[in-house]
Amino acid sequence: MTEIPLVVQAPMAAGPSTPQLAAAVSNAGGLGFLAAGYRRPDDVREEIAATRALTDRSFGLNVLSVTEQSVDEAALTAYAEAVQPEAERYGVRTGAPSFDDDDRAAKLALAAEERPAFVSFAFACPSRDEVERLQTAGCGVWITVAEPAEAVIAEAAGADALVVQGVEAGGHRGSFEDVDGTGEIGLLALLRLVRAKTALPLVAAGGVMDAEGVRAARAAGAIAVQCGTAFLLCPEAGTPAPHREALRAGGPTALTRAFTGRRARSLVNRFVRDHPDAPSGYPQVSAIVGPIRAAARAAGDAEAINLWAGQAHALAREVPAAEVVASLSRS
Ligand SMILES: Cc1cc2nc3c(=O)[nH]c(=O)nc-3n(C[C@H](O)[C@H](O)[C@H](O)COP(=O)(O)O)c2cc1C
Repeated sequence: MTEIPLVVQAPMAAGPSTPQLAAAVSNAGGLGFLAAGYRRPDDVREEIAATRALTDRSFGLNVLSVTEQSVDEAALTAYAEAVQPEAERYGVRTGAPSFDDDDRAAKLALAAEERPAFVSFAFACPSRDEVERLQTAGCGVWITVAEPAEAVIAEAAGADALVVQGVEAGGHRGSFEDVDGTGEIGLLALLRLVRAKTALPLVAAGGVMDAEGVRAARAAGAIAVQCGTAFLLCPEAGTPAPHREALRAGGPTALTRAFTGRRARSLVNRFVRDHPDAPSGYPQVSAIVGPIRAAARAAGDAEAINLWAGQAHALAREVPAAEVVASLSRS
């Protein structure tokens, strides 16, 4: 497997991850990542080609491993009613609470064909066969875990490395299940708990924003860090303008299901505040709320957009990605 650089740029679907960001990070000696989530397979293939045109270095591809879970239909219907005033505010209709697996199989086939150096998974654990297929194609396979028990399952599936995601992290909880109270452990504690279960290489994610944070993660057993929020304000990132403005304005973050039906850490805005009881149901809730998010984004209104951000977002800097890599790598 290709050696894992110390600084990994987290995959960030729905905007922030771009070929320009991944290539800038890899060219600076880190490891850039593309995010296949929410994109059509053909678009992912184009992003891989665009990244290869910008760098000869290794980069990774992240797949959201979406599998069907049982959902409470009545709770979904009630939630669609609860967000109806938001839909009216933006002049849109809520979406139907449909399931789709984000073209999981097509994206795995694409990854095996395109052979990025690393393929990482979030959400459900891939099967042993799926992991082996990617390894045979030459990809190192990383699986995101947020509980020590998940590390054991991921190792049994054949993972080459684990992305250990502390509760500080921005964006979705990558844990295998969306259950309150699980997968909500602070990064340093989680690294030690996972290390007690496995000798696999650990990539630490969650709230790491500077060299001191990198040192702390390494002291706790990580060989690398995966940072998302630290790159959100870089010019190479595709972070939408209202998201950038909200980061500049600052404020607290919280775990919320309001936007997608899966717990995720977002800056607190009106939508988060008004919907503390959103049901678990991914991606059905995301399908319900999608038109509201899209309309708010088009209107440049940050109050109904998912503003994914880690707990330490106040330390994010508006500098080129190479500078972020350099400052994280400072020993
Ligand atoms: C805007 C945003 C989008 C994200 N999208 C993804 C994604 O598509 N796939 C994934 O595995 N993780 C995703 N994450 C989580 C990151 O992989 C990582 O766990 C997190 O960014 C680490 O915490 P930090 O943001 O404090 O650095 C996302 C995080 C953010 C902030």
